Amino acid sequence: MLDLRDHFFVPDAPAVELRAFTHGLMPKTVPAMMERFVEDWRERGVDAWNEVPNHWRPGSGEVVGWWTLPETLGDAFIAPLLGAPAGTCIMQPNVHWTVQCLLSAPEPFTAGRNEIVFSEGAFPSVQHSVYQWAAMQGLRPRPLPLGADGFVHVDAVLDAISDRTAWVFLSHVGFTTGEKLPDAALHAVAEKAHRHDALFCIDGYHATGSVAVDVEALGADVYVGGLLKEACGSTGNSYLYVRDGLTLTPRLSGWFADADPFGFQKQPQPHPDVRRRFLAGTTAIASLYHAVEGLRLLLDAGLENVRTDSLAKTALAIEQAEAAGLTLQSPREAERRGAMVILAVKDAAALCEWLKTQGVFTDSRQNRVLRLAPFVWNTTADIERTFAVLEDGLKTNAHQHVVAPASAGPVT
Ligand SMILES: Cc1ncc(COP(=O)(O)O)c(C=O)c1O
Repeated sequence: MLDLRDHFFVPDAPAVELRAFTHGLMPKTVPAMMERFVEDWRERGVDAWNEVPNHWRPGSGEVVGWWTLPETLGDAFIAPLLGAPAGTCIMQPNVHWTVQCLLSAPEPFTAGRNEIVFSEGAFPSVQHSVYQWAAMQGLRPRPLPLGADGFVHVDAVLDAISDRTAWVFLSHVGFTTGEKLPDAALHAVAEKAHRHDALFCIDGYHATGSVAVDVEALGADVYVGGLLKEACGSTGNSYLYVRDGLTLTPRLSGWFADADPFGFQKQPQPHPDVRRRFLAGTTAIASLYHAVEGLRLLLDAGLENVRTDSLAKTALAIEQAEAAGLTLQSPREAERRGAMVILAVKDAAALCEWLKTQGVFTDSRQNRVLRLAPFVWNTTADIERTFAVLEDGLKTNAHQHVVAPASAGPVT
Protein backbone atom coordinates (compact mmCIF):
# COMPACT_ATOMS: atom_id res chain seq x y z
CA MET A 1 0.00 0.00 0.00
CA LEU A 2 1.10 3.59 -0.60
CA ASP A 3 2.24 5.62 2.37
CA LEU A 4 2.76 9.30 1.50
CA ARG A 5 2.36 10.49 5.09
CA ASP A 6 5.84 12.02 5.18
CA HIS A 7 4.75 14.50 2.49
CA PHE A 8 1.77 15.88 4.43
CA PHE A 9 1.16 17.54 7.78
CA VAL A 10 -0.52 14.50 9.34
CA PRO A 11 -1.91 14.70 12.90
CA ASP A 12 0.31 12.91 15.41
CA ALA A 13 -0.37 9.19 15.92
CA PRO A 14 -2.54 7.65 17.20
CA ALA A 15 -4.85 10.23 15.56
CA VAL A 16 -6.36 9.04 12.28
CA GLU A 17 -7.47 11.60 9.67
CA LEU A 18 -10.06 10.08 7.31
CA ARG A 19 -11.73 13.18 5.82
CA ALA A 20 -9.84 13.61 2.55
CA PHE A 21 -13.25 13.79 0.83
CA THR A 22 -14.04 17.07 2.60
CA HIS A 23 -10.71 18.91 2.77
CA GLY A 24 -7.37 17.20 2.19
CA LEU A 25 -4.35 17.56 4.44
CA MET A 26 -1.74 20.24 3.77
CA PRO A 27 1.28 19.10 1.74
CA LYS A 28 4.56 20.00 3.43
CA THR A 29 5.64 22.17 0.48
CA VAL A 30 2.71 24.58 0.91
CA PRO A 31 4.23 26.97 3.49
CA ALA A 32 7.27 27.51 1.23
CA MET A 33 5.00 28.10 -1.77
CA MET A 34 3.01 30.70 0.16
CA GLU A 35 6.34 32.33 1.09
CA ARG A 36 7.09 32.46 -2.68
CA PHE A 37 3.80 34.33 -3.17
CA VAL A 38 4.68 36.84 -0.49
CA GLU A 39 8.18 37.31 -1.96
CA ASP A 40 6.92 37.68 -5.53
CA TRP A 41 4.35 40.26 -4.44
CA ARG A 42 6.87 42.11 -2.22
CA GLU A 43 9.78 42.06 -4.67
CA ARG A 44 8.05 42.29 -8.06
CA GLY A 45 4.72 43.98 -7.35
CA VAL A 46 2.87 44.78 -10.58
CA ASP A 47 5.54 43.07 -12.69
CA ALA A 48 4.65 39.69 -11.16
CA TRP A 49 1.63 39.70 -13.48
CA ASN A 50 4.12 39.27 -16.34
CA GLU A 51 7.03 37.43 -14.81
CA VAL A 52 7.74 35.25 -11.80
CA PRO A 53 10.03 32.20 -11.54
CA ASN A 54 8.20 28.98 -12.34
CA HIS A 55 7.95 27.78 -8.71
CA TRP A 56 5.53 25.10 -9.90
CA ARG A 57 8.36 23.43 -11.86
CA PRO A 58 11.22 23.99 -9.44
CA GLY A 59 14.64 23.87 -11.04
CA SER A 60 13.27 24.42 -14.56
CA GLY A 61 14.71 27.94 -14.83
CA GLU A 62 11.49 28.93 -16.63
CA VAL A 63 9.50 32.08 -16.01
CA VAL A 64 5.73 32.32 -15.94
CA GLY A 65 3.35 35.21 -15.19
CA TRP A 66 0.33 35.66 -12.95
CA TRP A 67 -1.73 36.75 -15.97
CA THR A 68 -1.47 33.32 -17.62
CA LEU A 69 -1.04 31.21 -14.47
CA PRO A 70 -4.56 29.68 -14.69
CA GLU A 71 -3.78 28.10 -18.05
CA THR A 72 -0.11 27.41 -17.22
CA LEU A 73 -1.23 25.25 -14.26
CA GLY A 74 -4.03 23.83 -16.42
CA ASP A 75 -1.49 22.53 -18.94
CA ALA A 76 1.11 21.39 -16.40
CA PHE A 77 -1.12 19.71 -13.80
CA ILE A 78 -4.81 19.47 -14.75
CA ALA A 79 -4.18 18.06 -18.24
CA PRO A 80 -2.11 15.13 -16.84
CA LEU A 81 -4.74 14.64 -14.11
CA LEU A 82 -7.42 14.15 -16.76
CA GLY A 83 -5.37 12.60 -19.56
CA ALA A 84 -6.25 15.73 -21.56
CA PRO A 85 -4.20 17.47 -24.27
CA ALA A 86 -2.47 20.79 -23.62
CA GLY A 87 -4.65 23.82 -24.32
CA THR A 88 -7.88 22.36 -22.92
CA CYS A 89 -7.68 22.98 -19.15
CA ILE A 90 -7.73 26.08 -16.95
CA MET A 91 -7.94 26.83 -13.23
CA GLN A 92 -11.21 28.24 -11.93
CA PRO A 93 -12.28 29.69 -8.56
CA ASN A 94 -15.06 27.13 -7.87
CA VAL A 95 -17.39 24.78 -9.73
CA HIS A 96 -20.40 27.05 -9.18
CA TRP A 97 -18.77 29.80 -11.23
CA THR A 98 -17.86 27.39 -14.02
CA VAL A 99 -21.34 25.87 -14.28
CA GLN A 100 -22.88 29.35 -14.31
CA CYS A 101 -20.54 30.24 -17.19
CA LEU A 102 -21.37 27.02 -19.06
CA LEU A 103 -25.10 27.71 -18.81
CA SER A 104 -24.59 31.30 -19.95
CA ALA A 105 -23.08 30.15 -23.26
CA PRO A 106 -25.70 30.23 -26.05
CA GLU A 107 -24.15 27.59 -28.34
CA PRO A 108 -25.90 24.44 -26.99
CA PHE A 109 -29.34 26.08 -26.99
CA THR A 110 -29.93 25.89 -30.72
CA ALA A 111 -32.93 24.70 -32.73
CA GLY A 112 -35.39 24.79 -29.84
CA ARG A 113 -33.15 22.81 -27.51
CA ASN A 114 -33.83 23.92 -23.96
CA GLU A 115 -33.64 20.87 -21.72
CA ILE A 116 -30.98 20.17 -19.15
CA VAL A 117 -30.76 16.58 -17.98
CA PHE A 118 -29.13 15.98 -14.60
CA SER A 119 -29.22 13.56 -11.71
CA GLU A 120 -30.78 14.63 -8.43
CA GLY A 121 -27.54 13.31 -6.94
CA ALA A 122 -25.68 16.27 -8.47
CA PHE A 123 -24.02 18.79 -6.16
CA PRO A 124 -25.91 22.09 -5.52
CA SER A 125 -23.33 23.98 -7.61
CA VAL A 126 -24.86 22.15 -10.58
CA GLN A 127 -28.50 21.81 -9.51
CA HIS A 128 -28.91 25.35 -8.16
CA SER A 129 -27.28 26.80 -11.27
CA VAL A 130 -29.63 24.84 -13.52
CA TYR A 131 -32.72 26.12 -11.69
CA GLN A 132 -31.38 29.69 -11.61
CA TRP A 133 -30.74 29.74 -15.37
CA ALA A 134 -33.95 27.89 -16.11
CA ALA A 135 -35.96 30.59 -14.37
CA MET A 136 -34.12 33.32 -16.25
CA GLN A 137 -33.86 31.80 -19.72
CA GLY A 138 -36.94 29.63 -20.05
CA LEU A 139 -34.89 26.42 -19.89
CA ARG A 140 -36.45 23.11 -18.91
CA PRO A 141 -34.70 21.25 -16.10
CA ARG A 142 -35.00 17.45 -16.34
CA PRO A 143 -33.97 16.25 -12.84
CA LEU A 144 -33.69 12.48 -12.59
CA PRO A 145 -34.26 10.87 -9.19
CA LEU A 146 -31.76 8.33 -7.93
CA GLY A 147 -32.85 4.72 -8.52
CA ALA A 148 -34.51 2.50 -5.93
CA ASP A 149 -31.05 1.29 -4.87
CA GLY A 150 -30.04 4.88 -4.03
CA PHE A 151 -27.64 5.14 -6.99
CA VAL A 152 -27.75 6.82 -10.41
CA HIS A 153 -30.23 5.12 -12.73
CA VAL A 154 -28.15 5.24 -15.92
CA ASP A 155 -30.93 3.88 -18.18
CA ALA A 156 -33.19 6.72 -17.02
CA VAL A 157 -30.46 9.21 -17.95
CA LEU A 158 -30.14 7.62 -21.39
CA ASP A 159 -33.93 7.65 -21.87
CA ALA A 160 -34.16 11.34 -20.93
CA ILE A 161 -31.73 12.48 -23.64
CA SER A 162 -33.46 13.64 -26.82
CA ASP A 163 -33.24 16.23 -29.59
CA ARG A 164 -34.47 18.77 -27.02
CA THR A 165 -31.48 18.20 -24.72
CA ALA A 166 -28.86 20.95 -24.60
CA TRP A 167 -26.76 19.71 -21.67
CA VAL A 168 -26.37 16.54 -19.60
CA PHE A 169 -24.69 16.90 -16.18
CA LEU A 170 -23.55 13.89 -14.13
CA SER A 171 -21.18 13.49 -11.19
CA HIS A 172 -18.28 11.12 -11.79
CA VAL A 173 -18.49 10.15 -8.09
CA GLY A 174 -21.68 10.97 -6.15
CA PHE A 175 -21.08 13.19 -3.14
CA THR A 176 -23.89 11.63 -1.09
CA THR A 177 -23.52 8.08 -2.39
CA GLY A 178 -19.80 7.52 -2.98
CA GLU A 179 -20.86 5.87 -6.25
CA LYS A 180 -18.33 6.10 -9.09
CA LEU A 181 -20.07 5.83 -12.42
CA PRO A 182 -18.30 3.14 -14.44
CA ASP A 183 -16.47 4.27 -17.57
CA ALA A 184 -18.86 2.26 -19.77
CA ALA A 185 -21.87 4.11 -18.30
CA LEU A 186 -20.30 7.54 -18.82
CA HIS A 187 -19.30 6.56 -22.31
CA ALA A 188 -22.84 5.43 -23.14
CA VAL A 189 -24.23 8.76 -21.89
CA ALA A 190 -21.67 10.70 -23.95
CA GLU A 191 -22.53 8.69 -27.01
CA LYS A 192 -26.29 9.22 -26.66
CA ALA A 193 -25.79 12.95 -25.92
CA HIS A 194 -23.65 13.35 -29.02
CA ARG A 195 -26.11 11.44 -31.20
CA HIS A 196 -28.61 14.16 -30.26
CA ASP A 197 -26.11 17.05 -30.54
CA ALA A 198 -26.25 17.65 -26.78
CA LEU A 199 -23.20 18.41 -24.64
CA PHE A 200 -22.07 16.26 -21.72
CA CYS A 201 -20.47 17.75 -18.61
CA ILE A 202 -19.00 15.50 -15.90
CA ASP A 203 -18.54 16.93 -12.41
CA GLY A 204 -15.46 15.06 -11.23
CA TYR A 205 -14.96 16.83 -7.91
CA HIS A 206 -15.09 13.62 -5.86
CA ALA A 207 -12.98 11.68 -8.37
CA THR A 208 -10.21 14.27 -8.52
CA GLY A 209 -6.90 12.89 -7.37
CA SER A 210 -8.28 9.48 -6.42
CA VAL A 211 -9.39 8.13 -9.80
CA ALA A 212 -7.26 7.98 -12.96
CA VAL A 213 -9.36 9.78 -15.58
CA ASP A 214 -9.08 9.62 -19.37
CA VAL A 215 -11.42 12.42 -20.24
CA GLU A 216 -11.24 11.88 -23.99
CA ALA A 217 -11.98 8.16 -23.71
CA LEU A 218 -15.01 8.98 -21.53
CA GLY A 219 -16.30 11.28 -24.26
CA ALA A 220 -16.93 14.28 -22.00
CA ASP A 221 -17.31 17.64 -23.70
CA VAL A 222 -16.62 19.39 -20.44
CA TYR A 223 -15.16 18.07 -17.18
CA VAL A 224 -15.10 20.16 -14.00
CA GLY A 225 -13.77 19.49 -10.52
CA GLY A 226 -11.75 20.92 -7.68
CA LEU A 227 -8.50 20.30 -5.85
CA LEU A 228 -9.81 20.87 -2.32
CA LYS A 229 -10.40 17.25 -1.39
CA GLU A 230 -8.12 14.30 -2.15
CA ALA A 231 -5.87 16.57 -4.26
CA CYS A 232 -5.13 18.58 -1.09
CA GLY A 233 -5.07 21.97 -2.83
CA SER A 234 -7.32 23.88 -0.44
CA THR A 235 -9.78 26.57 -1.53
CA GLY A 236 -10.08 28.67 -4.67
CA ASN A 237 -8.75 25.86 -6.81
CA SER A 238 -11.24 24.25 -9.10
CA TYR A 239 -10.65 23.53 -12.76
CA LEU A 240 -12.27 23.21 -16.16
CA TYR A 241 -11.60 21.03 -19.20
CA VAL A 242 -13.25 21.95 -22.50
CA ARG A 243 -12.93 19.44 -25.35
CA ASP A 244 -10.56 20.58 -28.07
CA GLY A 245 -12.54 22.21 -30.87
CA LEU A 246 -15.70 22.88 -28.83
CA THR A 247 -16.74 26.53 -29.05
CA LEU A 248 -18.50 28.04 -26.08
CA THR A 249 -18.98 31.78 -25.52
CA PRO A 250 -20.03 32.32 -21.92
CA ARG A 251 -21.96 35.55 -21.36
CA LEU A 252 -20.42 35.78 -17.89
CA SER A 253 -16.82 36.22 -19.12
CA GLY A 254 -15.03 39.04 -17.34
CA TRP A 255 -12.41 41.43 -18.63
CA PHE A 256 -9.62 38.93 -17.83
CA ALA A 257 -11.28 36.73 -20.48
CA ASP A 258 -11.32 39.44 -23.12
CA ALA A 259 -9.35 39.20 -26.36
CA ASP A 260 -8.09 42.75 -25.84
CA PRO A 261 -8.14 43.36 -22.10
CA PHE A 262 -5.88 46.40 -22.09
CA GLY A 263 -7.65 47.94 -25.10
CA PHE A 264 -10.50 48.53 -22.63
CA GLN A 265 -13.00 48.33 -25.50
CA LYS A 266 -16.60 49.20 -24.77
CA GLN A 267 -17.92 45.88 -26.14
CA PRO A 268 -16.54 42.54 -24.93
CA GLN A 269 -14.56 40.42 -27.38
CA PRO A 270 -14.34 36.69 -26.60
CA HIS A 271 -10.78 35.47 -26.16
CA PRO A 272 -9.65 33.21 -29.03
CA ASP A 273 -8.61 30.53 -26.50
CA VAL A 274 -11.97 29.06 -25.42
CA ARG A 275 -10.81 27.99 -21.94
CA ARG A 276 -9.72 31.57 -21.17
CA ARG A 277 -13.31 32.76 -21.73
CA PHE A 278 -14.16 31.23 -18.36
CA LEU A 279 -12.18 33.82 -16.45
CA ALA A 280 -13.97 36.63 -14.64
CA GLY A 281 -12.58 39.85 -13.22
CA THR A 282 -9.12 39.93 -11.63
CA THR A 283 -7.91 36.38 -10.90
CA ALA A 284 -7.26 35.53 -7.22
CA ILE A 285 -3.58 34.57 -7.39
CA ALA A 286 -2.59 33.55 -3.84
CA SER A 287 -4.60 30.33 -3.99
CA LEU A 288 -2.79 29.28 -7.16
CA TYR A 289 0.45 29.10 -5.16
CA HIS A 290 -0.87 26.22 -3.05
CA ALA A 291 -3.19 24.75 -5.67
CA VAL A 292 -1.19 21.87 -7.10
CA GLU A 293 1.22 20.82 -4.33
CA GLY A 294 -0.99 17.86 -3.38
CA LEU A 295 -1.74 17.03 -6.98
CA ARG A 296 1.98 17.01 -7.76
CA LEU A 297 2.50 14.32 -5.08
CA LEU A 298 -0.35 12.22 -6.45
CA LEU A 299 0.82 12.57 -10.05
CA ASP A 300 4.36 11.66 -8.99
CA ALA A 301 3.04 8.58 -7.19
CA GLY A 302 0.97 7.76 -10.31
CA LEU A 303 -2.82 8.10 -10.32
CA GLU A 304 -3.22 4.40 -11.19
CA ASN A 305 -1.20 3.56 -8.08
CA VAL A 306 -3.24 5.99 -5.98
CA ARG A 307 -6.45 4.38 -7.23
CA THR A 308 -5.14 0.85 -6.54
CA ASP A 309 -4.13 1.97 -3.06
CA SER A 310 -7.50 3.63 -2.41
CA LEU A 311 -9.31 0.46 -3.52
CA ALA A 312 -7.16 -1.69 -1.22
CA LYS A 313 -7.77 0.62 1.75
CA THR A 314 -11.51 0.97 1.16
CA ALA A 315 -11.73 -2.83 0.74
CA LEU A 316 -10.09 -3.27 4.14
CA ALA A 317 -12.41 -0.65 5.67
CA ILE A 318 -15.48 -2.39 4.21
CA GLU A 319 -14.26 -5.77 5.49
CA GLN A 320 -13.71 -4.37 8.99
CA ALA A 321 -17.03 -2.49 8.96
CA GLU A 322 -18.93 -5.63 8.07
CA ALA A 323 -17.07 -7.65 10.68
CA ALA A 324 -18.30 -5.03 13.18
CA GLY A 325 -21.88 -5.56 11.96
CA LEU A 326 -22.15 -2.19 10.22
CA THR A 327 -24.17 -1.66 7.04
CA LEU A 328 -22.40 -0.41 3.95
CA GLN A 329 -24.27 2.30 2.08
CA SER A 330 -21.75 3.10 -0.67
CA PRO A 331 -21.06 0.61 -3.48
CA ARG A 332 -19.07 -2.54 -2.79
CA GLU A 333 -17.80 -3.37 -6.31
CA ALA A 334 -14.39 -1.88 -7.04
CA GLU A 335 -15.46 -0.39 -10.38
CA ARG A 336 -18.31 1.51 -8.69
CA ARG A 337 -16.39 2.62 -5.57
CA GLY A 338 -14.96 6.10 -5.11
CA ALA A 339 -12.51 6.94 -2.32
CA MET A 340 -15.24 7.29 0.30
CA VAL A 341 -16.89 4.55 2.35
CA ILE A 342 -20.35 5.38 3.73
CA LEU A 343 -21.78 3.41 6.64
CA ALA A 344 -25.36 3.55 7.89
CA VAL A 345 -25.26 4.02 11.67
CA LYS A 346 -27.71 5.12 14.32
CA ASP A 347 -26.91 8.47 15.99
CA ALA A 348 -24.19 9.10 13.43
CA ALA A 349 -23.60 12.71 14.57
CA ALA A 350 -22.91 11.73 18.19
CA LEU A 351 -20.77 8.78 17.10
CA CYS A 352 -18.71 11.03 14.83
CA GLU A 353 -18.29 13.55 17.66
CA TRP A 354 -17.20 10.81 20.08
CA LEU A 355 -14.75 9.37 17.53
CA LYS A 356 -13.18 12.83 17.38
CA THR A 357 -12.57 12.70 21.13
CA GLN A 358 -10.67 9.46 20.47
CA GLY A 359 -8.60 11.07 17.70
CA VAL A 360 -10.47 9.34 14.85
CA PHE A 361 -11.66 11.94 12.35
CA THR A 362 -14.62 10.95 10.15
CA ASP A 363 -17.76 12.92 9.34
CA SER A 364 -21.48 12.30 9.55
CA ARG A 365 -24.41 13.37 7.40
CA GLN A 366 -28.05 13.82 8.44
CA ASN A 367 -27.40 11.82 11.62
CA ARG A 368 -27.76 8.71 9.44
CA VAL A 369 -24.37 7.94 7.97
CA LEU A 370 -20.71 8.01 8.88
CA ARG A 371 -18.29 8.76 6.04
CA LEU A 372 -14.62 7.92 5.90
CA ALA A 373 -11.93 7.78 3.23
CA PRO A 374 -8.64 6.04 4.08
CA PHE A 375 -6.21 7.78 1.75
CA VAL A 376 -2.51 7.99 0.87
CA TRP A 377 -1.41 9.06 4.35
CA ASN A 378 -3.36 6.32 6.15
CA THR A 379 -1.84 2.98 7.06
CA THR A 380 -3.41 -0.42 7.59
CA ALA A 381 -2.93 0.19 11.33
CA ASP A 382 -4.99 3.43 11.02
CA ILE A 383 -7.89 1.51 9.50
CA GLU A 384 -7.69 -1.24 12.11
CA ARG A 385 -7.59 1.32 14.93
CA THR A 386 -10.58 3.18 13.46
CA PHE A 387 -12.77 0.10 13.56
CA ALA A 388 -11.50 -1.04 16.94
CA VAL A 389 -12.46 2.36 18.40
CA LEU A 390 -15.75 2.41 16.51
CA GLU A 391 -16.73 -1.04 17.74
CA ASP A 392 -15.81 -0.08 21.27
CA GLY A 393 -17.98 3.05 21.06
CA LEU A 394 -20.95 1.12 19.72
CA LYS A 395 -20.53 -1.59 22.37
CA THR A 396 -20.27 0.78 25.32
CA ASN A 397 -22.60 3.45 23.91
CA ALA A 398 -20.00 5.99 25.03
CA HIS A 399 -21.10 8.31 22.24
CA GLN A 400 -24.54 8.75 23.81
CA HIS A 401 -22.96 10.96 26.45
CA VAL A 402 -20.97 13.21 24.12
CA VAL A 403 -21.95 16.85 23.89
CA ALA A 404 -20.77 18.60 20.72
CA PRO A 405 -18.72 21.71 21.52
CA ALA A 406 -20.23 25.06 20.53
CA SER A 407 -19.11 25.95 17.03
CA ALA A 408 -19.02 29.04 14.87
CA GLY A 409 -19.81 27.21 11.63
CA PRO A 410 -22.03 24.57 10.07
CA VAL A 411 -19.32 22.28 8.64
CA THR A 412 -19.53 18.70 9.87
C1 LIG B 1 -19.58 16.80 -6.73
C2 LIG B 1 -19.18 18.16 -6.21
N1 LIG B 1 -19.14 19.21 -7.04
C3 LIG B 1 -18.76 20.43 -6.63
C4 LIG B 1 -18.40 20.65 -5.31
C5 LIG B 1 -17.95 22.00 -4.86
O1 LIG B 1 -18.50 23.03 -5.65
P1 LIG B 1 -17.97 24.51 -5.50
O2 LIG B 1 -16.59 24.53 -6.07
O3 LIG B 1 -18.93 25.31 -6.29
O4 LIG B 1 -17.98 24.84 -4.05
C6 LIG B 1 -18.41 19.59 -4.41
C7 LIG B 1 -18.02 19.81 -3.00
O5 LIG B 1 -18.18 19.00 -2.14
C8 LIG B 1 -18.82 18.32 -4.87
O6 LIG B 1 -18.85 17.28 -4.04
